[in-house]
Amino acid sequence: MTDRNYWETFYAKQNAELKPSLFARFVAENVKSIGKKLIEFGCGNARDAVFFANENYNVLAIDQCENEIKFLVTRYQKVKNLNFLVADFTCLSENQQFDIAYSRFTLHSITAKQEADVLAWTYKNLNANGRFCIEVRGQKNEIYQKGDAVVGEPDAFIFNNHYRRFLNFDRFCEDLKRVGFQIEYAAEEKDFAPFNGENETFIRVIAVKK
Ligand SMILES: C[S@@+](CC[C@H](N)C(=O)[O-])C[C@H]1O[C@@H](n2cnc3c(N)ncnc32)[C@H](O)[C@@H]1O
Repeated sequence: MTDRNYWETFYAKQNAELKPSLFARFVAENVKSIGKKLIEFGCGNARDAVFFANENYNVLAIDQCENEIKFLVTRYQKVKNLNFLVADFTCLSENQQFDIAYSRFTLHSITAKQEADVLAWTYKNLNANGRFCIEVRGQKNEIYQKGDAVVGEPDAFIFNNHYRRFLNFDRFCEDLKRVGFQIEYAAEEKDFAPFNGENETFIRVIAVKK
C-alpha cells in the first residue's frame, strides 16, 4: 500500500485537523436524495467519518494505517453508526451496498491502475442512484510537477517525502462516465480546501450511479 509508514507517522503525532473538511459539509448539504450508508476511502484521523456519523450517516471508514485505526476505534467507541476497517481501499471485497462512497485526498495517493480498479469497484458496489464524492489534487494544483517524478507513473511525484499523482480533470470525468457514472457536479477551483493560509486549487466531483 502506498506510503503507509508516512501516514502512520503523520497521524501518530495527533496534530492533524479534527474539524470536518469543507468537502464533508458540502456533501452533507448537497447530496441528499438517497440512503445514508457511506463508505470512506482513506479516512485518516476520521475527521469527516465522525462528522458523517454525527449527521446520522451509517459510516464504514477505511484506512491502511493499522495503528491509527486501533486508536480511532477506542477514541470514537461511543459514536453511533461508525465502524472502522483496516484495509487497502483499492482491493476491497465485492457484493457490498453503499449509498455514498466518499474519497477526500485519497485518489491522488494511488496509481492510475489502482484508480481504475476503485472506479469499477465503486460503481459495482453502490446502490442505484448512489453517489461517488471525490475531492482530489488535479493538474491545476499548485504543487503539480514539484519534487521527483515517479518512473513509469505519469503525473506522479514524490514531494515532501510522499507520493502524489495529479489527476487530469477532463480525463477523470471521462473515466467516471466510461464505467457508467453520470456527473452531477464537477469543478477544479480554489476555495475548496484553504489550509494554513494557502488556497490551492483542487478537483471536486459528485458522480451518480445510473
Ligand atoms: C491525505 S490523507 C486524507 C485523510 C482524510 N481523507 C482527510 O481528508 O483528512 C490520505 C489517507 O489515505 C490513506 N490511504 C492512502 N492510500 C490508501 C489505500 N490504498 N488504502 C487505504 N488507505 C489509504 C492514508 O493512509 C491516509 O490516511
